[in-house]
Amino acid sequence: MIPIQTQSLNANEESDVARAAQLILARGLVALPTETVYGLGALALDDEAVRKIFAAKERPEHNPLIVHVSNATEAAALFDFSQCSNSVQSESWFRTLSEHFWPGPLTLVCRKNTHVGDGVTAGLPKVAVRVPSHPAMRQVLALTGAPIAAPSANLSSRPSPTNAEHVLRTLAGKIDAVLDGGPCTHGLESSVVDISGETPILLRAGALSLGALRALIPSLAAMPIGQTTHQATGSPGLTAKHYAPQIHSVKLASPAQIKEAWHSPAALLIRQGLTDVYTAQMGIREGVTETLSDDESLYAQQFYAALYRLEQRESEILLIEETPSQDESSLWRTIQDRLLRASSG
Ligand code: TXA
Ligand code: MG
Repeated sequence: MIPIQTQSLNANEESDVARAAQLILARGLVALPTETVYGLGALALDDEAVRKIFAAKERPEHNPLIVHVSNATEAAALFDFSQCSNSVQSESWFRTLSEHFWPGPLTLVCRKNTHVGDGVTAGLPKVAVRVPSHPAMRQVLALTGAPIAAPSANLSSRPSPTNAEHVLRTLAGKIDAVLDGGPCTHGLESSVVDISGETPILLRAGALSLGALRALIPSLAAMPIGQTTHQATGSPGLTAKHYAPQIHSVKLASPAQIKEAWHSPAALLIRQGLTDVYTAQMGIREGVTETLSDDESLYAQQFYAALYRLEQRESEILLIEETPSQDESSLWRTIQDRLLRASSG
């Protein structure tokens, strides 16, 4: 692929937001800020534009993309509820979930309408759709007036980008522009729910906890966290090796294992509570250490940025403190999913 000049655009400048929309309408690739992570945007219903996303990300072609639209009406137009096993039920889940969580970090998967091409769904009969809340992303959607496909704006299998600099780190020279809207507020990808079958199912744990979703749909099933999913179960993108920093060995560690490694050359990614305890017991650590908040939302917000920083420190081994809970009402369940993937393989 011949390198292209990647423009840096500012989401606070109206003319830059307009430029981002123009580039997308011209079948270009623009990384866009969303409330979850940065997405690599292109025209969703144009198979040529969509092909460019797969090429730039080096994404396996069996892994479908999420389509972003401005509102639930536009989302419903991409679905064909009549193809679902129980169309009345699927439409009712759609209404309930979209009314509560859109705009926001929820992606709904349902049978696709005929005008949704095979490019964006990787040939699957279902399409994934989300209504994002980030103001710059919403402006770009309004200006293009068309659905925008946007997977996370990183090379395939690398951590998702939560700021413009992360995007440039793996995609500079491969995309037309990045629209810089500052750091993402959630820092974790959207929760992906398939509403097309007899039982709705959470395919990917995300920025909305399983508990928050079950409060509305108690029958919601969930894929086990950290596991590879494939076509048979519905979410082809969830290979175990995903969200991984470029560090030779990444392992989850208990507090006891972290203690043992306190004065070793391993890099550590731990929470403030443990840092405080061990610093008091064993003194300030010399080695590479990233300390994140004990609060789940703040931890989530900072998590991918910490992985990108740790990559730059060129440590051979990274130990990540295991999560304090995997309770379904907590974001720690989603974080544990990402930790298992980052440390697999
Ligand atoms: O928060 C997010 O979801 C971000 C922002 C940019 O919106 N996007 C994102 O996209 O994380 P990506 O491509 O990195 O992850 C999309 C996930 C994958 O696990 C993929 O397999 C699943 O959604 N997915 C997409 N289309 C699907 C479909 N038709 N059926 C089942 N799963 C689907
Ligand atoms: Mg991704």
